[in-house]
Amino acid sequence: MHIHNYEKIWLVLAMIMIVGFLTTVTYGATAVGIEMISDEEDTIDPGALDEDPRFAEPRVEQVGENEYEAYVVAQQYIFSPDPIEVPANSTVTFYVTSPDVIHGFQVAGTNANTMVIPGEVAKLTVETEEPGEHGIVCNEYCGSGHHVMEGKLIIHP
Ligand code: CUA
Repeated sequence: MHIHNYEKIWLVLAMIMIVGFLTTVTYGATAVGIEMISDEEDTIDPGALDEDPRFAEPRVEQVGENEYEAYVVAQQYIFSPDPIEVPANSTVTFYVTSPDVIHGFQVAGTNANTMVIPGEVAKLTVETEEPGEHGIVCNEYCGSGHHVMEGKLIIHP
């Protein structure tokens, strides 16, 4: 089979693009300083968050040497606590729930991302690597203030 030169060039260009794309994806997942390692959910009464020992007072708790749990409430149109502050090089499990409508919880620019459904507790475990600040964004339309619903995650050195 005879392959014309320009076809070879396209093949080479396609290979370069594929390799470049894979490199970007890999680099993107590891360079941001935080990475999701698991994702599941549990049930809760969305009308009684005030009486739930985890969510009555949204907060971050240290539960082991390098282990933290963050109890987060997403509601129209804030995340609590805000900011969420955790150390670098630790394992952080976020428990996130909503008392009103469906929200999103994503650490901007990372694969740490979950839907937050009233009646469910989204559980999301991440490894924090480098210190830095990340936006927390809501990526489910939740009402007129959806576009301003933003929090902050601070990863301390
Ligand atoms: Cu909360 Cu969109």
